[in-house]
Amino acid sequence: MEREIVSIIPQPWSTEKNEGRFTLSCDSKISANAHGCEAAELLAYYLRPATGYALPVTNRADTAIRINVGGNGQADDAGFTDESYEMKIDMQGVNISAPARAGAVRGIQTLRQLFPPAIFSDRRIENHKWTIPCLHINDKPAFKWRGMHLDVSRHFFNVEEVERFIDLLALHKFNILHLHLTDDQGWRIEIKQYPGLTAIGARRECSLTGHESDRPRKYDDQPYGGFYTQEDIRRLVDFAAAREITIVPEIDMPGHMQAAISAYPELGNTDISLKPRCHWGISQHILNARDSTVEFMKNVLDEIMELFPSRFIHIGGDEALKHEWSESREIQDRILALGLKNEHDLQRWFIGQMNSHLQQKGRRLIGWDEIIEGGIVAGVAVMNWQVNNVGAEAANAGHDVVVAQHSHLYFNFYQSEPTAEEPPAIGGMTSLGKVYSFNPFLDGVAEDKKHHIIGAQGQLWTEYISSMKQLEYMAFPRVCALGEILWSAGEKKSFRDFLMRLEYHRQRLACLNVNAHQQAAV
Ligand code: ACM
Repeated sequence: MEREIVSIIPQPWSTEKNEGRFTLSCDSKISANAHGCEAAELLAYYLRPATGYALPVTNRADTAIRINVGGNGQADDAGFTDESYEMKIDMQGVNISAPARAGAVRGIQTLRQLFPPAIFSDRRIENHKWTIPCLHINDKPAFKWRGMHLDVSRHFFNVEEVERFIDLLALHKFNILHLHLTDDQGWRIEIKQYPGLTAIGARRECSLTGHESDRPRKYDDQPYGGFYTQEDIRRLVDFAAAREITIVPEIDMPGHMQAAISAYPELGNTDISLKPRCHWGISQHILNARDSTVEFMKNVLDEIMELFPSRFIHIGGDEALKHEWSESREIQDRILALGLKNEHDLQRWFIGQMNSHLQQKGRRLIGWDEIIEGGIVAGVAVMNWQVNNVGAEAANAGHDVVVAQHSHLYFNFYQSEPTAEEPPAIGGMTSLGKVYSFNPFLDGVAEDKKHHIIGAQGQLWTEYISSMKQLEYMAFPRVCALGEILWSAGEKKSFRDFLMRLEYHRQRLACLNVNAHQQAAV
């Protein structure tokens, strides 16, 4: 019993256990100083459904739960603030103190996990004793970028579903949600200046049924669509910000653009009339490199920057097939006119255009690792998804790197054998144990460049994930393991210990109705 009580995921930096317990009652109150108010409101919101207590938030100091936040938190160059916190629990109450709001919000997630799992229930549990052990916790994250990616193009997840996912990420102390908003199969965000992007680009005529590798391919006859209005996006950004999660938007270019080219053919290279793609895989249709196309994409990014306060803006850059560029007279002339060597150089030039635009507005460009294939673009951050040494090379060259290697961090891969008994997935095999074994400090990164590995991220590509239930099945419990790798100190890592805590943590996930995979395959 004793060990279950402090089964926190991710494991805090240091936990000292003391005698006794504190019991929350219907008369308890939460107090906060000025900077701690929002965190206190969030805690009251979390504790209310299961306890039924409407815990008031006051600025009086004599309450059972006290939250003290030093300030708004000065962001570093990459936009990250201090997330450390200290929590002291004695029989009289709980004290959470943090230098910045983010720390208090992380502390609240720890506090929730100290109550019995039923605290996560969305309905009132009668006659339950809401007690927690007396503890002294000091906690801080190991990595700055603790991310999950979600592809909302192949399948669309509505605002309520994304909010639910954000809340589950917050529970595991993630701080980044990377939203993959556009792809060949659907453009999913309203852009006021270019309404065709959603009027035409957000809807495909049908979707593949079965697997992409099946021959012949089979399709349903259901048009499929959906997109976020700018109002929806503001709501999501605010919901995430209250949980100290930054939404990093991705507009994938110059490849993965078939939906946009379908709506605005002048962005493309051929006269072929296109529609958003109905099967998976990569489209050959890619943006051209006209000034007007560069301008179009900068205008899109301007609206994106207005909606998303994130310091990092993701411009994709992956899998930009170059056949159309090789075959286009206009593109070949453009390459010569710009004094470039080849198509890879043109991609580097294109990314450079976006980079200077983002930099002028005080933002930073991040892209998949192909963005530096044609040569280094100064100042960009690299998301290393391929299993290669590009991530290590980029870090050694002084680029910030987020590790997202598909071998360990693609949660759209299978997670247990036999795969024939699992719902269809893209392929691969990434067990819970494999995720837990991952070390974001890639081989080959020089000791004095390790600080450029700013963190890591799990990916959920949704070709084979068409519902929230399936999304949860693929994400959990792998998200729990990744959360721990990224928050907790590397040398304390123990898969055995993690599995014991996970056993208990599953009760919390069950109260939250999370459709987690039940096996914990090594
Ligand atoms: C990717 O999987 N194309 C980043």
